[in-house]
Amino acid sequence: MTVSAYESVYVNAFGSPSLVLERGEGVHVWDANGKKYLDLLAGIAVNALGYADDTMTKAIVEQTNKLAHVSNFFTTPAQINLAQKLVDLLESEGGRRGRVFLCNSGTEANEGAMKLAMLHKPGGKIIALEGAFHGRTLGALSITHKPAIREPFSQTPGCDFIEPSVTALDELGDDVAAIFLEPIQGERGVVPLDSEFLKAARAKADEIGALLVLDEIQTGMGRTGRWFAHTGTVQADVVTLAKGLGGGMPIGAIIATGPAENLFTPGSHGSTFGGNPVVAAASFAVLNKIETLLDHVSETGEWLTAELQSKGFAVRGAGLLLGIEVEDAPGLVGEMREKGYIVNATNENTLRLAPPLIITRDDLVPFINDLVQLRG
Ligand SMILES: Cc1ncc(COP(=O)(O)O)c(C=O)c1O
Repeated sequence: MTVSAYESVYVNAFGSPSLVLERGEGVHVWDANGKKYLDLLAGIAVNALGYADDTMTKAIVEQTNKLAHVSNFFTTPAQINLAQKLVDLLESEGGRRGRVFLCNSGTEANEGAMKLAMLHKPGGKIIALEGAFHGRTLGALSITHKPAIREPFSQTPGCDFIEPSVTALDELGDDVAAIFLEPIQGERGVVPLDSEFLKAARAKADEIGALLVLDEIQTGMGRTGRWFAHTGTVQADVVTLAKGLGGGMPIGAIIATGPAENLFTPGSHGSTFGGNPVVAAASFAVLNKIETLLDHVSETGEWLTAELQSKGFAVRGAGLLLGIEVEDAPGLVGEMREKGYIVNATNENTLRLAPPLIITRDDLVPFINDLVQLRG
């Protein structure tokens, strides 16, 4: 299989793919020419357990042999178990106990959260941050900041973008239905929001009767060494999840709490595949394994950050979601690929790492040495 075969049959939405990947095992993937790579991106913060993880495969096979799909006229133990787990996790981390809607991707989770905002305050405005990335379907796209990807589709519902500053929050009034925030702005270059801003956003949302929506699609489910990156600092009204939640299976989730918990009523939202039992069973198995990895993620992330800083790099982020400041990050992605590493550039100067949560120090040492050689 070749890239030109892809180009002849696939729309040009992503440009030319740089590799044809054929298989993976643990923290490594192999391309169609048999070349092995250390994957420091994990499908952009998705493959939490790496590749070919036994527990996930077993859950998928077992559930497929029982029931691969049911309609939303019915439910399944797999769907209930996963929703229960998510509600419990949020509550155990200091969030409010809520209720879940399962969907198929991050953008859909944010679409659903936008609908909650519209039901909460009909006609109200949605606020998102400059640099925000919330997805690419029309609703979520309208709260995604980057003009190059949003402006060609200018008939989207619309949104006011503000800087992540307390002063900008001060300007918001009663006409705001929801404030959407990512605890760490991944696409902006792995930029964490400071806790003072998060607390001010919570206070403002309370004052003006708006929902505070935390998009934990990239940061949630163990990525930062914690189940959620916002808990402990603020309580969200709505939390959106995807990416690592499925460990590679397509899934998204909304956890609606407090004023948002009962906004959906029969007919107001739906999805044929949302809550699919195979995906839900896989996700449940993935979460049970992530539970055993949280300390490992924190320790490995702290160690990696300290190692990189000791070599003179500026590093942002938390756990295993890190942004490293480098010159010509897009060029470095290609140079690193030559050396057998998969990394990503979020902008000219930021290399993003979001490896499988199972990655070890031993896996990372050669990467650090090669990075120092190329940009140290
Ligand atoms: C913070 C955040 N929100 C939403 C999305 C959209 O998720 P998906 O690509 O699954 O639609 C992403 C994807 O990169 C994201 O990082």
